[in-house]
Amino acid sequence: DIYDFGLVGLGVMGRNFILNVADNGFTAFGNDLDEEKVNALIEEGGDTTKVNASMDAAAFVQALSTPRKIMLLVPAGKVVDIVIESLLPHLEQGDIIIDGGNSFFTDTDRREAYLKEKGINFFGAGVSGGAKGARKGPSIMPGGSREAYQHVKPIFEAVAAKYQEEPCVAYLGPKSAGNYVKMVHNGIEYGLMQLTSEIYDLLKKAGGLTNEELQQTFADWNQGRLQSFLVEITSDIFSQKDELAEGHLVDKILDKAKQKGTGKWTSQNAMDLGIPVPTIDIAVSMREISALKDERILADEIYDRPTVAKIEKDVLIEKAEKALYFAFIITYAQGMHQLADASKEYGYELDLGEIAKIWRAGCIIRAALLADITEAYRADGTLQNLLLSPTFAEKVRETVGAARELVAHGATNGIPLPGLTNALTYFDAYTSSRLPLNLIQAQRDYFGSHTYERLDREGIFHTGWEE
Ligand code: 6PG
Repeated sequence: DIYDFGLVGLGVMGRNFILNVADNGFTAFGNDLDEEKVNALIEEGGDTTKVNASMDAAAFVQALSTPRKIMLLVPAGKVVDIVIESLLPHLEQGDIIIDGGNSFFTDTDRREAYLKEKGINFFGAGVSGGAKGARKGPSIMPGGSREAYQHVKPIFEAVAAKYQEEPCVAYLGPKSAGNYVKMVHNGIEYGLMQLTSEIYDLLKKAGGLTNEELQQTFADWNQGRLQSFLVEITSDIFSQKDELAEGHLVDKILDKAKQKGTGKWTSQNAMDLGIPVPTIDIAVSMREISALKDERILADEIYDRPTVAKIEKDVLIEKAEKALYFAFIITYAQGMHQLADASKEYGYELDLGEIAKIWRAGCIIRAALLADITEAYRADGTLQNLLLSPTFAEKVRETVGAARELVAHGATNGIPLPGLTNALTYFDAYTSSRLPLNLIQAQRDYFGSHTYERLDREGIFHTGWEE
């Protein structure tokens, strides 16, 4: 038997991805060390001429048509290297390995170079959309050899989510381009999630909204310009009843957010490259602050908190919609800016319009806004920052006022809105032709003779400040 597609790692994601491949008319073969998972897939596949699996790496590789297309959906890190080593003795020149996990992009560069020497093509392909996405259509972000991609393309285009019939997958660039784009996708994801949780806090504390009203508010928003996967699931979350006790589940969930690292990597790398992404940074920091639950309980007893001044519900909901829309725009703007600069630094030659395009469906950050972002880059491929696009300038002008009012309300009433505040601060700073950092330059020159430039003439200057 000669199968079209191979997949190693038959966890939920892997199993669902294979079944998706089979649904689209390709034959697929799975591999996993766990016998139960192998058997479960064979059973679910129903027909072994279409979906089959084996625990044995050699049998797995032999079952595939050449050039072999083997996707790995295994935990990022050492496991990827172990799986690669287990496959290598059985592979032939020209075969293709696709790592579909959230691997760190420099690991992908290392693996790509290592496998290239052996004549094997290696792809880092971010896959977004969770278990349901893998089964019904994820957004796929592949990077690697452009020629080798031609072999994978028909399968990926068939299984990917569709936005108005256009598949949410595209060749993004060489080496680790795909993993890098997925990393920034996750950074944006962190930002949007943090912002949503702040708006929830505000609606609850300043508006007194019940869970039913929160559910309705997010559902309404999901019908408008805020339409997005995250707003949609947020609405659902507020309607979920607790199965173990009275009330709504959301109120019982411990307020400590975990993280697997991709948001942090986005921030870290942005710092390394000197790209400001403060809304993503603060989203990572907030997960860290949330983890300090015991300290927060102690500190809460030491300090008084202002009594929250209420805002009339309808008024608040209207302002919150605008503020959230504003801050979502800023978060995407920061992420896209990071992609633009990283692309130059790492030679990815990313097409930002193409990236926005494949994020319009399937992935966690899919949103109506991404159609507008796609258009903005189509209109101007060299756009430095979304805030410089005329369409976005209009959207921002209309919503920034609400963001200001709510940031002020949060500050006076002791409701932490760090994501929203950072989005606003980023906007105010980015749109200031003059910032007070001339003073920092003066201080640096004062204490360290670090020199400065002038507004009114060319050259490098130093002043003997103390003389
Ligand atoms: C996706 C997600 C996914 C990731 C979660 C969890 O695009 O489908 O980004 O890849 O598993 O976002 O990330 P954290 O555990 O870091 O929150």
